[in-house]
Amino acid sequence: MGKKSSPSVVILAIESSCDDTSIAVLRDGEVLSNIVSSQIAHKDLGGVIPELASRKHLEKIDYVMDAALSESGLSLKDLTAIGVTAGPGLLGSLLVGLSYAKGLSLQLDIPLVEVNHMHAHILAHFIDDPKPSFPFLCLTVSGGHTQIVKISSVSEMEILGETRDDAAGEAFDKIGKMLGLDYPSGPQVDKLAQEGQAIYDFPISNIPAYDYSFSGLKTAVKYFLRDEIKKDKSFIAKHLKDICASVQAIIVKTLMQKLISASEDSGILEVGIAGGVSANSGLRQALKVTAVERSWNAYIPQISYTTDNAAMVAISAYYKYLGSQYADLSLTPFTRGF
Ligand code: KG4
Ligand code: ZN
Repeated sequence: MGKKSSPSVVILAIESSCDDTSIAVLRDGEVLSNIVSSQIAHKDLGGVIPELASRKHLEKIDYVMDAALSESGLSLKDLTAIGVTAGPGLLGSLLVGLSYAKGLSLQLDIPLVEVNHMHAHILAHFIDDPKPSFPFLCLTVSGGHTQIVKISSVSEMEILGETRDDAAGEAFDKIGKMLGLDYPSGPQVDKLAQEGQAIYDFPISNIPAYDYSFSGLKTAVKYFLRDEIKKDKSFIAKHLKDICASVQAIIVKTLMQKLISASEDSGILEVGIAGGVSANSGLRQALKVTAVERSWNAYIPQISYTTDNAAMVAISAYYKYLGSQYADLSLTPFTRGF
């Protein structure tokens, strides 16, 4: 007689905190689909325009839902619970995903599970094997956040340090904008940096403990460019790759210095990176090199789990569902919070 297997847990998760509309389906911890529709409407506008972002989510969400279900090979009746990002993020954008999730939860009479976007970036490490063991240190670097987090279990996380002003992704984007690149310019700075040399010296911010500051770098680059352009109007065009390589090098060095201190002081050798900036080639390489030097077990997410995606929301919702941590339909979005 065969062993009776327990029914599958199927989570459909929705992410709409900023400018990516994403829906994923996860069965027993395995990603069956993870559809991401990124808004290109903000490209020439220098940043995400909140009103535009929420309208674009509304336009895209039905299509993303159909694609996610169809790719998973499952239907609505197979779903066990709905996971959704409630924050931090843009209120209007979050509301679109949250309302959609509540509608599904009501219609299907299945639980709604609330997910924190920053927790989700970290828990993306718990989708594929090998998974980190606890305690685990994670440097979460995105467009809105830069945090070093100590993770003691999937539900116990403590911020050890964070940025006091701009996030690392914001530094890439704002400096990229000064260089005439489209938003978000992090990926373009990365690409150009790979063909350049880090020959320009920019100051590293000296902030206590594990905190960061990137606003000084932004100002330093601004005045550096102003002075060089006075001497040569085509300075940026002529030296774009080297400027990008220099900016990337200092951001990566700053990020790694604090992460190394946090690991040294805590004795934690399980170390990972997460969030949009963890797609950066310089940061990925620096983590690999440091891991060898310091005997770390390093965790680098696959590229599709670095920038915003619903698979990371689904895995977070899965763990909360297993712990019976359900949200009720009065759930509201929030801009800040961990
Ligand atoms: O996590 P994410 O998709 O959204 C937020 O939650 O903010 O991160 C987006 C950020 C943007 O600032 C973008 O420029 C940056 O991640 N980014 C990169 C790279 N890919 C994305 N920054 C540097 N190098 C990259 N390859
Ligand atoms: Zn994010």
